[in-house]
Amino acid sequence: MLPKPCLPELCIVIPVLNERDNIVPLVVALQAALSGILWEALFVDDDSQDGTREAIAAAALEEPRLRLLHRIGRRGLASAFVEGAQASMAPVIAAMDADLQHDPGLLPQMLAAIRSCGCDVAVGSRYVAGGSIVDWDGGRAAMSHLATRLARRLLRSPLHDPLSGYFMLRRSVFELAVRRLSCIGFKILLDILSSLPHPVRVRELPLAFAPRLAGHSKLGGGTVRDFGLLLAEKLLGPRLPVRLVLFALVGLGGLGVHGLALYLAKNWLELPFLNAQLMATAIAIGSNFLLNNYLTFADRPRTGWNLLSGLLMFGLVCSVGALNNLGVASLLLASEPQAWGLAGLAGGAMSLMWNYAVGSALVWPVARAT
Ligand code: GDD
Ligand code: MN
Repeated sequence: MLPKPCLPELCIVIPVLNERDNIVPLVVALQAALSGILWEALFVDDDSQDGTREAIAAAALEEPRLRLLHRIGRRGLASAFVEGAQASMAPVIAAMDADLQHDPGLLPQMLAAIRSCGCDVAVGSRYVAGGSIVDWDGGRAAMSHLATRLARRLLRSPLHDPLSGYFMLRRSVFELAVRRLSCIGFKILLDILSSLPHPVRVRELPLAFAPRLAGHSKLGGGTVRDFGLLLAEKLLGPRLPVRLVLFALVGLGGLGVHGLALYLAKNWLELPFLNAQLMATAIAIGSNFLLNNYLTFADRPRTGWNLLSGLLMFGLVCSVGALNNLGVASLLLASEPQAWGLAGLAGGAMSLMWNYAVGSALVWPVARAT
């Protein structure tokens, strides 16, 4: 008779990006911390180039509870956690970093809190009594405090540490939030809690946030921008995607760039109007493309030669958008010759939607290796 298959009670999802030297110490620490618990650890790797996957595969020869999800052409801790959670069936899911900054010894306490039925989400908190942060340089500590305060204020989070990357929750709670998640950047706990249709019971356990074992932090300038985008998306609500708002703002800025370039080309370079207009259009398309690449679609920017091909594609998409604009505007004008303002606005809205929809599908598609 086959042995009864055992579904793990707990899945620890561990996003990894170039963490080779942390794998073995982490697995040893998990084994020590989780005796008596049915667990699995699911690493979600975004195509690390340092041998991280090979280290996981080698460790899995000795530890069958390890699993690996390899994503190509993708980035982001939040989306890595979500896809890892979706690839498991365990009724309880934890999020944990691979660099041992999150003490695995806290996992049994988190699980006990959830099993006790009085708690749906257990959070390793740096900012409750008994918790602490590493010896971060002043800048990072101040940024962390400021971001925490912003999250608490704007999203009315009652947590002391809504930005913690170390937490555990019931799958049923995750399922309630998963369809509304923004999945932008690093702050997945905040994303989950502010996507829930009703409040859940959260308990914070003190976490002494340890120094990183090996390798270096992946947090960079993009983290601040991603945090801003996440806050904006949660405040605007799901009906008004923050990307569309950014795209529209970039487009509005493009009008200004166009006007300035036209003025300079005509008055400085003394070009005839049509040449000046052509030049201003090219400059506005180019600056819009770069702004969208590094702001609106900063999580999947085009780089190297792809930047050039992207610019050409974007130019093409915008040209068709301009034709659509003219088509809609002249159609409206034909039926209502006085309403030229409305016709102009409708044409503009038409090209905005076209440029956004086709641009995000063709120029900045989600799964594209750069
Ligand atoms: N798959 C994947 N993709 N993993 C990633 C990515 C990514 O794009 N970026 C980072 N990781 C992995 C790292 O390899 C590590 O295991 C974990 O995510 C955390 O990344 P760190 O670079 O170590 O982040 P940190 O220590 O500066 O910040 C952490 O602590 C903060 C305070 O709790 C994160 O957990 C933050 O979310 C958290 O706010
Ligand atoms: Mn870390």
